[in-house]
Amino acid sequence: MDSKDRKEQPNVPFQEDNYTHNIRKDGERKLDRRSFMKMMAGAAGVFAVSTLPWGAIAARELTGLDKKTYAKAKIADTSAIKVGEAVEFAYPEKHDSALLVKLGDNEYKAYQNTCTHLKCPVFWSGEKGKLVCPCHHGLYDVQTGIPIAGPPQRPLPEITLETAEGAVYATGVKRYET
Ligand code: FES
Repeated sequence: MDSKDRKEQPNVPFQEDNYTHNIRKDGERKLDRRSFMKMMAGAAGVFAVSTLPWGAIAARELTGLDKKTYAKAKIADTSAIKVGEAVEFAYPEKHDSALLVKLGDNEYKAYQNTCTHLKCPVFWSGEKGKLVCPCHHGLYDVQTGIPIAGPPQRPLPEITLETAEGAVYATGVKRYET
């Protein structure tokens, strides 16, 4: 571009061939905002789509549609526990602490015994006839696992049982009702 052409085009401020000379600042700013918004909308879309599978998995877990299967595991011989006593065991995995309580000659209840408040171990108090969490004086009903005192709000997960051939077996963990 020579000096003659520049005189005919007064909007071109530079002699050199500067590529910015044809961008209007107002237009450029509008374009930037729009691009930014588009980018944010795109990022939100990607985030939403990428989290969908986790949402679906959580929903299936909570609604119990994805029924888990549990192995049957022997807890103890019936003769080894006296009425009013409890034994600890692990179920379904070796780190899942649980408690079996013998309430009558042929009446048993079992729960995972991690407190649903802040995860302290819950124990059986034959004296109180309740499942007790010592950390914050939480109490659970032994018939239902439902909290009846203290801060816990959710029941202890109940373990389903079966008695056969002089022994008590764990057969599964009940789902939370939603
Ligand atoms: S941890 Fe059990 S009552 Fe708080």
